[in-house]
Amino acid sequence: MTGICAGRVAVVTGAGGGLGRAHALAFAAEGAKVVVNDLGVGPGGEGGSSSVADKVTAEIRARGGEATAHSGDIATDKGAASLVATALETYGRLDTLVNNAGILRDRTLLNLTEDDWDAVLRVHLKGHFLPLKHAAAHWRAERRAGRTPTARIVNTTSGAGLLGSIGQANYAAAKAGIVALTLVAAAELGRYGVQANAVAPAARTRMTQRIFAETMAPPSSGFDAMAPENVSPLVVWLGSASAAGVTGRVFEAEGGRITVMEGWQPGPTATKNSRWTPSEAGGAVRELLTRTPAPRPVYGS
Ligand SMILES: NC(=O)c1ccc[n+]([C@@H]2O[C@H](COP(=O)([O-])OP(=O)(O)OC[C@H]3O[C@@H](n4cnc5c(N)ncnc54)[C@H](O)[C@@H]3O)[C@@H](O)[C@H]2O)c1
Repeated sequence: MTGICAGRVAVVTGAGGGLGRAHALAFAAEGAKVVVNDLGVGPGGEGGSSSVADKVTAEIRARGGEATAHSGDIATDKGAASLVATALETYGRLDTLVNNAGILRDRTLLNLTEDDWDAVLRVHLKGHFLPLKHAAAHWRAERRAGRTPTARIVNTTSGAGLLGSIGQANYAAAKAGIVALTLVAAAELGRYGVQANAVAPAARTRMTQRIFAETMAPPSSGFDAMAPENVSPLVVWLGSASAAGVTGRVFEAEGGRITVMEGWQPGPTATKNSRWTPSEAGGAVRELLTRTPAPRPVYGS
Protein backbone atom coordinates (compact mmCIF):
# COMPACT_ATOMS: atom_id res chain seq x y z
CA MET A 1 0.00 0.00 0.00
CA THR A 2 1.25 3.48 -0.80
CA GLY A 3 -0.07 6.70 0.70
CA ILE A 4 0.89 9.21 3.38
CA CYS A 5 0.32 6.62 6.14
CA ALA A 6 2.10 3.68 4.51
CA GLY A 7 3.83 1.59 7.17
CA ARG A 8 1.92 3.24 10.02
CA VAL A 9 -0.58 1.71 12.42
CA ALA A 10 -3.61 3.78 13.40
CA VAL A 11 -6.17 3.13 16.13
CA VAL A 12 -9.57 4.81 15.71
CA THR A 13 -12.05 4.69 18.60
CA GLY A 14 -15.78 4.61 17.85
CA ALA A 15 -14.97 3.59 14.26
CA GLY A 16 -17.99 1.35 13.76
CA GLY A 17 -20.07 4.14 12.18
CA GLY A 18 -20.30 7.86 11.42
CA LEU A 19 -17.08 9.88 11.46
CA GLY A 20 -14.95 7.13 13.01
CA ARG A 21 -15.81 4.70 10.21
CA ALA A 22 -14.93 7.35 7.61
CA HIS A 23 -11.61 8.04 9.37
CA ALA A 24 -10.75 4.32 9.58
CA LEU A 25 -11.45 3.80 5.85
CA ALA A 26 -9.46 6.94 4.97
CA PHE A 27 -6.43 5.85 7.05
CA ALA A 28 -6.52 2.44 5.36
CA ALA A 29 -6.79 4.09 1.93
CA GLU A 30 -3.58 6.01 2.76
CA GLY A 31 -1.77 2.78 3.61
CA ALA A 32 -2.21 2.52 7.39
CA LYS A 33 -3.05 -0.70 9.17
CA VAL A 34 -6.07 0.14 11.28
CA VAL A 35 -7.42 -1.04 14.60
CA VAL A 36 -11.16 -0.42 14.38
CA ASN A 37 -12.56 0.08 17.88
CA ASP A 38 -16.26 0.27 18.64
CA LEU A 39 -18.36 -0.86 21.56
CA GLY A 40 -21.42 -0.86 19.30
CA VAL A 41 -23.66 1.11 21.66
CA GLY A 42 -26.76 3.17 20.90
CA PRO A 43 -26.56 6.98 20.52
CA GLY A 44 -26.94 7.48 24.29
CA GLY A 45 -24.52 4.68 25.24
CA GLU A 46 -27.11 1.93 25.63
CA GLY A 47 -26.54 -1.71 24.70
CA GLY A 48 -23.38 -2.93 22.97
CA SER A 49 -22.36 -5.19 20.09
CA SER A 50 -19.07 -6.25 18.51
CA SER A 51 -20.64 -6.47 15.05
CA VAL A 52 -20.11 -2.82 14.03
CA ALA A 53 -16.33 -2.97 14.53
CA ASP A 54 -16.27 -6.29 12.66
CA LYS A 55 -18.27 -4.82 9.78
CA VAL A 56 -15.92 -1.85 9.22
CA THR A 57 -12.91 -4.16 9.53
CA ALA A 58 -14.42 -6.33 6.79
CA GLU A 59 -15.06 -3.24 4.63
CA ILE A 60 -11.40 -2.20 4.89
CA ARG A 61 -10.22 -5.70 4.03
CA ALA A 62 -12.63 -5.86 1.09
CA ARG A 63 -10.97 -2.71 -0.27
CA GLY A 64 -7.53 -4.33 0.00
CA GLY A 65 -6.52 -2.73 3.31
CA GLU A 66 -5.42 -4.24 6.62
CA ALA A 67 -7.58 -3.92 9.71
CA THR A 68 -8.43 -5.63 12.95
CA ALA A 69 -11.44 -5.14 15.19
CA HIS A 70 -11.54 -4.24 18.90
CA SER A 71 -14.90 -4.02 20.63
CA GLY A 72 -13.84 -2.90 24.12
CA ASP A 73 -15.03 0.12 26.10
CA ILE A 74 -12.38 2.82 25.70
CA ALA A 75 -13.60 4.64 28.81
CA THR A 76 -12.34 1.81 31.05
CA ASP A 77 -8.69 1.28 31.89
CA LYS A 78 -8.98 -2.36 30.81
CA GLY A 79 -10.57 -1.45 27.45
CA ALA A 80 -8.03 1.31 26.71
CA ALA A 81 -5.08 -0.90 27.66
CA SER A 82 -6.34 -3.78 25.51
CA LEU A 83 -6.90 -1.38 22.59
CA VAL A 84 -3.23 -0.34 22.59
CA ALA A 85 -2.18 -3.97 23.19
CA THR A 86 -4.25 -5.06 20.15
CA ALA A 87 -2.26 -2.71 17.89
CA LEU A 88 1.06 -3.87 19.33
CA GLU A 89 0.21 -7.59 19.33
CA THR A 90 -1.37 -7.57 15.85
CA TYR A 91 0.95 -5.21 13.99
CA GLY A 92 3.96 -4.74 16.30
CA ARG A 93 3.62 -0.96 16.42
CA LEU A 94 1.35 2.01 17.06
CA ASP A 95 1.78 5.37 15.35
CA THR A 96 -1.54 7.21 15.47
CA LEU A 97 -4.37 7.35 17.98
CA VAL A 98 -7.64 8.94 16.88
CA ASN A 99 -9.95 9.47 19.84
CA ASN A 100 -13.41 9.75 18.35
CA ALA A 101 -15.92 7.59 20.29
CA GLY A 102 -18.82 9.51 21.77
CA ILE A 103 -22.41 9.53 22.95
CA LEU A 104 -25.06 12.18 23.58
CA ARG A 105 -27.52 12.68 26.45
CA ASP A 106 -28.93 16.09 25.50
CA ARG A 107 -31.12 17.89 28.04
CA THR A 108 -31.34 21.44 29.28
CA LEU A 109 -29.48 22.07 32.52
CA LEU A 110 -32.48 21.79 34.81
CA ASN A 111 -33.44 18.41 33.34
CA LEU A 112 -29.92 16.99 33.19
CA THR A 113 -29.48 14.10 35.65
CA GLU A 114 -26.31 13.07 37.43
CA ASP A 115 -26.32 9.91 35.30
CA ASP A 116 -26.54 11.96 32.06
CA TRP A 117 -23.62 14.05 33.27
CA ASP A 118 -21.45 11.09 34.30
CA ALA A 119 -22.19 9.01 31.19
CA VAL A 120 -21.21 11.77 28.75
CA LEU A 121 -18.15 12.91 30.70
CA ARG A 122 -17.07 9.27 31.03
CA VAL A 123 -17.20 8.33 27.34
CA HIS A 124 -15.81 11.59 25.92
CA LEU A 125 -13.34 12.91 28.48
CA LYS A 126 -12.20 9.74 30.24
CA GLY A 127 -12.54 7.92 26.91
CA HIS A 128 -9.96 10.32 25.46
CA PHE A 129 -7.65 10.32 28.50
CA LEU A 130 -7.28 6.55 28.97
CA PRO A 131 -6.34 5.51 25.39
CA LEU A 132 -4.06 8.58 25.22
CA LYS A 133 -2.35 7.57 28.46
CA HIS A 134 -1.78 3.95 27.39
CA ALA A 135 -0.54 4.99 23.95
CA ALA A 136 1.77 7.61 25.47
CA ALA A 137 3.26 5.04 27.88
CA HIS A 138 4.18 2.91 24.85
CA TRP A 139 5.68 5.89 23.01
CA ARG A 140 7.73 6.92 26.05
CA ALA A 141 9.10 3.36 26.25
CA GLU A 142 9.99 3.55 22.56
CA ARG A 143 11.76 6.87 23.06
CA ARG A 144 13.68 5.47 26.04
CA ALA A 145 14.72 2.47 23.94
CA GLY A 146 16.24 4.90 21.42
CA ARG A 147 13.43 4.60 18.85
CA THR A 148 11.84 8.07 18.85
CA PRO A 149 8.35 7.61 17.44
CA THR A 150 6.60 9.85 14.94
CA ALA A 151 3.47 9.54 17.01
CA ARG A 152 0.23 11.42 16.49
CA ILE A 153 -2.89 11.90 18.59
CA VAL A 154 -6.00 13.38 16.99
CA ASN A 155 -8.74 14.17 19.50
CA THR A 156 -12.35 15.00 18.71
CA THR A 157 -13.85 18.13 20.18
CA SER A 158 -16.94 20.02 19.01
CA GLY A 159 -18.23 23.50 18.35
CA ALA A 160 -20.32 22.84 21.46
CA GLY A 161 -17.14 22.68 23.52
CA LEU A 162 -15.64 25.76 21.88
CA LEU A 163 -18.67 28.08 21.98
CA GLY A 164 -21.22 26.33 24.22
CA SER A 165 -24.48 24.74 23.06
CA ILE A 166 -27.95 24.98 24.57
CA GLY A 167 -29.20 21.61 25.80
CA GLN A 168 -25.70 20.11 25.83
CA ALA A 169 -24.07 21.25 29.09
CA ASN A 170 -22.59 17.80 29.76
CA TYR A 171 -21.35 17.35 26.18
CA ALA A 172 -20.01 20.92 25.89
CA ALA A 173 -18.13 20.58 29.18
CA ALA A 174 -16.61 17.26 28.06
CA LYS A 175 -15.62 18.65 24.66
CA ALA A 176 -14.07 21.79 26.21
CA GLY A 177 -12.16 19.46 28.55
CA ILE A 178 -10.86 17.57 25.50
CA VAL A 179 -9.36 20.81 24.16
CA ALA A 180 -7.49 21.40 27.43
CA LEU A 181 -6.40 17.74 27.50
CA THR A 182 -5.04 18.15 23.95
CA LEU A 183 -3.02 21.25 24.87
CA VAL A 184 -1.49 19.50 27.89
CA ALA A 185 -0.77 16.32 25.88
CA ALA A 186 0.98 18.35 23.17
CA ALA A 187 3.12 20.15 25.75
CA GLU A 188 3.96 17.11 27.90
CA LEU A 189 4.48 14.45 25.24
CA GLY A 190 6.39 16.39 22.57
CA ARG A 191 9.68 15.17 24.10
CA TYR A 192 8.66 11.58 23.28
CA GLY A 193 7.97 12.33 19.62
CA VAL A 194 4.22 12.74 20.12
CA GLN A 195 2.07 15.46 18.54
CA ALA A 196 -1.51 16.09 19.69
CA ASN A 197 -4.22 18.12 17.96
CA ALA A 198 -8.00 18.34 18.15
CA VAL A 199 -10.62 18.53 15.41
CA ALA A 200 -14.17 19.88 15.81
CA PRO A 201 -16.11 18.19 12.98
CA ALA A 202 -19.56 18.74 11.57
CA ALA A 203 -21.11 15.96 9.50
CA ARG A 204 -24.20 13.87 8.90
CA THR A 205 -24.14 10.92 11.31
CA ARG A 206 -26.73 9.33 13.56
CA MET A 207 -25.67 11.97 16.15
CA THR A 208 -26.79 14.88 13.99
CA GLN A 209 -29.14 13.68 11.29
CA ARG A 210 -32.24 13.84 13.46
CA ILE A 211 -31.69 17.20 15.22
CA PHE A 212 -30.26 19.03 12.20
CA ALA A 213 -32.16 17.04 9.57
CA GLU A 214 -32.45 19.93 7.08
CA THR A 215 -28.80 21.14 7.21
CA MET A 216 -27.48 17.59 7.11
CA ALA A 217 -29.54 16.21 4.22
CA PRO A 218 -27.54 15.25 1.10
CA PRO A 219 -28.16 17.45 -1.97
CA SER A 220 -29.88 15.91 -4.98
CA SER A 221 -26.70 16.59 -6.96
CA GLY A 222 -23.23 18.09 -6.49
CA PHE A 223 -20.91 18.15 -3.47
CA ASP A 224 -22.36 16.39 -0.43
CA ALA A 225 -20.87 18.85 2.08
CA MET A 226 -22.12 17.08 5.19
CA ALA A 227 -20.77 13.62 4.33
CA PRO A 228 -18.53 12.43 7.20
CA GLU A 229 -15.86 11.47 4.65
CA ASN A 230 -15.15 15.21 4.16
CA VAL A 231 -13.69 15.51 7.68
CA SER A 232 -11.35 12.52 7.39
CA PRO A 233 -8.62 13.98 5.10
CA LEU A 234 -7.62 16.52 7.79
CA VAL A 235 -7.68 13.81 10.48
CA VAL A 236 -5.54 11.49 8.33
CA TRP A 237 -3.02 14.24 7.57
CA LEU A 238 -2.77 15.23 11.26
CA GLY A 239 -2.28 11.52 12.01
CA SER A 240 0.53 11.15 9.48
CA ALA A 241 4.26 11.86 9.60
CA SER A 242 3.58 14.68 7.09
CA ALA A 243 2.11 16.84 9.89
CA ALA A 244 5.55 17.33 11.52
CA GLY A 245 5.60 20.47 13.67
CA VAL A 246 1.82 20.87 13.91
CA THR A 247 0.81 20.25 17.52
CA GLY A 248 -1.40 21.74 20.23
CA ARG A 249 -3.84 23.09 17.62
CA VAL A 250 -7.60 23.00 17.30
CA PHE A 251 -9.28 22.88 13.89
CA GLU A 252 -12.86 22.96 12.67
CA ALA A 253 -13.65 20.80 9.65
CA GLU A 254 -16.92 20.73 7.75
CA GLY A 255 -17.56 20.00 4.07
CA GLY A 256 -14.72 21.60 2.11
CA ARG A 257 -13.77 24.04 4.91
CA ILE A 258 -10.84 23.75 7.37
CA THR A 259 -10.50 26.49 10.01
CA VAL A 260 -7.79 27.04 12.61
CA MET A 261 -9.59 27.92 15.83
CA GLU A 262 -7.92 30.70 17.80
CA GLY A 263 -8.14 30.12 21.53
CA TRP A 264 -8.43 32.26 24.61
CA GLN A 265 -6.21 35.35 24.46
CA PRO A 266 -5.78 38.04 27.12
CA GLY A 267 -7.96 41.01 26.12
CA PRO A 268 -8.26 44.51 27.60
CA THR A 269 -6.83 44.66 31.13
CA ALA A 270 -7.21 47.10 34.01
CA THR A 271 -4.44 47.29 36.62
CA LYS A 272 -4.23 48.98 39.99
CA ASN A 273 -1.38 48.76 42.46
CA SER A 274 -3.69 47.92 45.35
CA ARG A 275 -6.82 45.82 45.96
CA TRP A 276 -10.00 46.86 44.12
CA THR A 277 -13.21 47.44 46.03
CA PRO A 278 -16.11 45.44 44.51
CA SER A 279 -17.64 48.66 43.13
CA GLU A 280 -14.33 49.75 41.62
CA ALA A 281 -13.86 46.26 40.09
CA GLY A 282 -17.35 46.52 38.61
CA GLY A 283 -16.63 49.95 37.14
CA ALA A 284 -13.37 48.64 35.65
CA VAL A 285 -15.12 45.59 34.14
CA ARG A 286 -17.82 47.74 32.53
CA GLU A 287 -15.16 49.93 30.97
CA LEU A 288 -13.10 46.92 29.79
CA LEU A 289 -16.19 45.38 28.15
CA THR A 290 -16.61 48.49 26.01
CA ARG A 291 -13.22 47.65 24.47
CA THR A 292 -13.71 43.99 23.61
CA PRO A 293 -15.94 42.24 21.05
CA ALA A 294 -19.06 40.44 22.29
CA PRO A 295 -18.58 36.66 22.50
CA ARG A 296 -19.84 34.60 19.58
CA PRO A 297 -23.34 33.28 20.28
CA VAL A 298 -23.77 29.95 22.03
CA TYR A 299 -25.14 27.33 19.60
CA GLY A 300 -28.91 27.15 19.76
CA SER A 301 -29.35 30.67 21.17
N1 LIG B 1 -21.45 14.42 13.73
C1 LIG B 1 -21.10 15.67 14.02
O1 LIG B 1 -21.50 16.65 13.33
C2 LIG B 1 -20.20 15.94 15.17
C3 LIG B 1 -19.99 17.27 15.56
C4 LIG B 1 -19.11 17.53 16.59
C5 LIG B 1 -18.44 16.49 17.21
N2 LIG B 1 -18.68 15.20 16.84
C6 LIG B 1 -17.94 14.13 17.53
O2 LIG B 1 -17.46 13.20 16.58
C7 LIG B 1 -17.33 11.91 17.21
C8 LIG B 1 -18.01 10.86 16.36
O3 LIG B 1 -19.41 11.09 16.38
P1 LIG B 1 -20.42 10.64 15.22
O4 LIG B 1 -21.16 11.85 14.84
O5 LIG B 1 -19.70 9.87 14.20
O6 LIG B 1 -21.43 9.72 16.06
P2 LIG B 1 -21.73 8.15 16.04
O7 LIG B 1 -22.74 7.93 17.11
O8 LIG B 1 -22.06 7.71 14.66
O9 LIG B 1 -20.34 7.48 16.42
C9 LIG B 1 -19.87 7.32 17.73
C10 LIG B 1 -19.38 5.89 17.89
O10 LIG B 1 -18.76 5.76 19.17
C11 LIG B 1 -19.05 4.47 19.67
N3 LIG B 1 -18.89 4.46 21.13
C12 LIG B 1 -19.66 5.08 22.06
N4 LIG B 1 -19.20 4.82 23.29
C13 LIG B 1 -18.11 4.02 23.15
C14 LIG B 1 -17.20 3.44 24.06
N5 LIG B 1 -17.32 3.64 25.38
N6 LIG B 1 -16.18 2.69 23.58
C15 LIG B 1 -16.05 2.50 22.24
N7 LIG B 1 -16.90 3.02 21.33
C16 LIG B 1 -17.92 3.78 21.77
C17 LIG B 1 -20.50 4.23 19.24
O11 LIG B 1 -20.84 2.87 19.25
C18 LIG B 1 -20.52 4.87 17.84
O12 LIG B 1 -20.26 3.92 16.82
C19 LIG B 1 -17.91 12.08 18.61
O13 LIG B 1 -16.87 12.31 19.53
C20 LIG B 1 -18.79 13.32 18.48
O14 LIG B 1 -19.00 13.96 19.71
C21 LIG B 1 -19.55 14.89 15.84
